[in-house]
Amino acid sequence: MHPIIDTPAKLPANLLAGCRTMPLPARLLMCPPEHFDVIDVKNPHMAGNIGRVDHPLAAQQWAAVGRAFEAAGARVEQIAPVAGCEDMVFCANQTLVGLDPAGRPLCLLSRMRYPSRQREVAAFGAWFAAAGYRVLEMPDDRLFEGSGDAIWHPGRGLIWGGYGHRTEPPVYEHVSREFGVPVIRLRLLSERFYHLDTCFCAIDESTVLINPKSLEPAGVEIIRRVFARVIECPADEADGAMACNATALLGRTVVIQRGAPRVCAALRACGYQVIEVETSEFLKSGGSVFCMKMYVF
Ligand code: ARG
Repeated sequence: MHPIIDTPAKLPANLLAGCRTMPLPARLLMCPPEHFDVIDVKNPHMAGNIGRVDHPLAAQQWAAVGRAFEAAGARVEQIAPVAGCEDMVFCANQTLVGLDPAGRPLCLLSRMRYPSRQREVAAFGAWFAAAGYRVLEMPDDRLFEGSGDAIWHPGRGLIWGGYGHRTEPPVYEHVSREFGVPVIRLRLLSERFYHLDTCFCAIDESTVLINPKSLEPAGVEIIRRVFARVIECPADEADGAMACNATALLGRTVVIQRGAPRVCAALRACGYQVIEVETSEFLKSGGSVFCMKMYVF
């Protein structure tokens, strides 16, 4: 049994060194925004944006995000969009995928908070089953929004698990058991940062980008003890550009929404390649680069 760590006192010494190594995924899954729209308010970013998506622009932006991922060395695969699933483009949320302790691919299905999003999950389960994954449902009726809230520590068998808006804390006992890894559980404080991927971006084994204001101080303390380098996102860039919703690829490149110059400068100063993209149409729905893809192991 691996521990659930939610206070600095529960953090074992040298946690990372004791976690198995994991590959850095170079395959990504994306869903074309054919049916993407803002038709209701599931998070505060969507308020005032109903019916305001520019669809041709969304299609262009989505394609450019995919090209940026490829420029960073990733191979992008696509899942067929389903009519009536207006948020399916946000591929980070329907599942959490990774490797089990035997190194076999495993996909845990989410239990989404909103009924309109629950319909997306089966399509992802089928895609991952066809890709050779063992697919499991959550055993009880707790909410869980996949890798919107549960994020692998790059290169290690360790999961960072956010909760508070879309995911309930007990699910991480199941996540920990099925993947055979410790989970560090972080409570999210702010409605505008409703998934962990809106305020926490793991870049490589020793580096993370966070918005400290939307995490509990105890969580920030744990983050500081585990990551050697913590880049703090200025509040305006975290909110205005959803800068922490960036995607790191292969420990080298960060794809990020335009409009976060201080974060970009900090990343470049650390030696990362930074590719800026525009996701304005998806920001209207409360999502950006990170949630527009799923890592495929
Ligand atoms: N409109 C979607 C929702 O509220 C956006 C999801 C964005 N995903 C993310 N991982 N932040 O569910």
